[in-house]
Amino acid sequence: MKFDAIIFDLDGVLCHTDDFHYLAWKAVADRYGIPFDRTVNERLRGVSRRDSLEILLENGGKTCSEKDKQRMAEEKNEIYRGFLAGMTPGDLSPDTRETLNALKARGVRLAIGSSSKNAGLILSRLGLGSFFDAAADGTEIRRSKPDPEVFLLAAEKLRVPPCRAAVVEDAAAGIEAAKRGGFYAIGIGSAAGCEASDGRIRRLSDLLSIVQGPLP
Ligand code: BG6
Ligand code: MG
Repeated sequence: MKFDAIIFDLDGVLCHTDDFHYLAWKAVADRYGIPFDRTVNERLRGVSRRDSLEILLENGGKTCSEKDKQRMAEEKNEIYRGFLAGMTPGDLSPDTRETLNALKARGVRLAIGSSSKNAGLILSRLGLGSFFDAAADGTEIRRSKPDPEVFLLAAEKLRVPPCRAAVVEDAAAGIEAAKRGGFYAIGIGSAAGCEASDGRIRRLSDLLSIVQGPLP
């Protein structure tokens, strides 16, 4: 298939920060005696920090004041950023690094579409601060995935229409966002089993056999 651009989700697609999100929420949940496990965590993939907290609280049967919610979200972010502080370019797998370089060499435009407000920090820790042609993240959007806003913004920054771009996602919410935005949705990891995905890959380099660069 020929795509002019590929928009990558970040957490859980290009790096393993999805696990850091889980560990940070788990630490907060344990601190406040709220039941939380990896099954519930699946529902937080791709969802904003605030919406994630609402899901965690609702699942744990806990109601809290707005002030408490703000404090818990801040505590989670502090723990999470502690994990990010230890990241280096070595956290990018060889498969991911080689795939990104190969796609760029083929002339495919590459962007990030992430719900995270920490996306800029993660990209710079991975040494990818200026690698992508565009990035849209949680600091620029009003509606989080499954709303397509972040992907539409990334496509707009690339000046590529959604019908000529693919999105790579590990979250069901992200696949839904991509479909609603009119993109070709490729599932990886947790989203590889997502029925709504247009394509499925096991590792990032599988993209190289399904994605061709734009026509010369
Ligand atoms: C997404 C993650 O990329 O970013 C979610 O999949 C997370 O789990 C969301 O809640 C927001 O991240 P942050 O870094 O702004 O708290
Ligand atoms: Mg993700």
